[in-house]
Amino acid sequence: VRALRQWYRRHGRHNLPWRATQNPYRILVSEVMLQQTQVERVLKRYRVFLKQFPNLRVLGRASLAAVLRGWQGLGYNRRALYLKRAAEACAREGTGRLPETYEALRKLPGVGDYTARALLSFAFAKRVPLADTNIRRIYSRLFFGKNPSVVSEKELERLIARTLPNKQAREFQWALMDLGSLICRAKPRCITCPLRKHCKAAPKVLAHGSRALEGRVVRHPQSRFEGSDRQIRGKLVDALRKKKSGTIATLSRATRAPRRRTASALEALIQDELVVKRKSVYALSL
Ligand code: ADE
Repeated sequence: VRALRQWYRRHGRHNLPWRATQNPYRILVSEVMLQQTQVERVLKRYRVFLKQFPNLRVLGRASLAAVLRGWQGLGYNRRALYLKRAAEACAREGTGRLPETYEALRKLPGVGDYTARALLSFAFAKRVPLADTNIRRIYSRLFFGKNPSVVSEKELERLIARTLPNKQAREFQWALMDLGSLICRAKPRCITCPLRKHCKAAPKVLAHGSRALEGRVVRHPQSRFEGSDRQIRGKLVDALRKKKSGTIATLSRATRAPRRRTASALEALIQDELVVKRKSVYALSL
């Protein structure tokens, strides 16, 4: 804990805007964006989105087309719909604020186990352990010298909970996230790792390496190649936002994909409740 805290002070990502707020709505927006989108890309959209939708009430009342416009560049548009539905649910069902219990948070669309815990930890300052992919990877290497796929999830969760300090638990989890994204990556950079002396997976020759190497600047990973089915769905959402509606024939011109593929992408969007079909005309849902 001490080694990680020290490293975080010097090398952590202290300028992420969602770490500088305690506003639960702003933290919810960041966590939903970060679910499937890389930090660098989220940074490009986060402030603009919040300017346009500064609170739950504004978001809940906005049109889906406007929310999707704000979501451009983030991908997985279903999350934008969920976020809007969550805002509507808060307005409808309670105080107009985000709930503060795990159970109530989980009832909101788009809020799974991880997001509910992240909200409790980051927005409501509760001591709730988080076990995202990065954190699991760190713990399975550190304690078992193995990859997370071969370590029992229960065991990992137990260790994560046991090592979470009582004080400044939030900062500690940020530190873990940063270690996972800057150093203890899929391909680890043990040479710069502040935990290498304690880690079962670090090459032993590094155990007594120079501290000067810690936290050397590392580049952020490039985003992965976007699957083309996903690209087609993205193009369809863009087209429907601008044109309001279309048939498979007109929409295939916008996707530049064969009709068959356009049709199956439209079906996926209907499944996701982003799109509705009336007769043979497709439009964004309300
Ligand atoms: N800070 C708070 N939540 C985060 C997340 N999900 N990813 C990266 N940094 C964060």
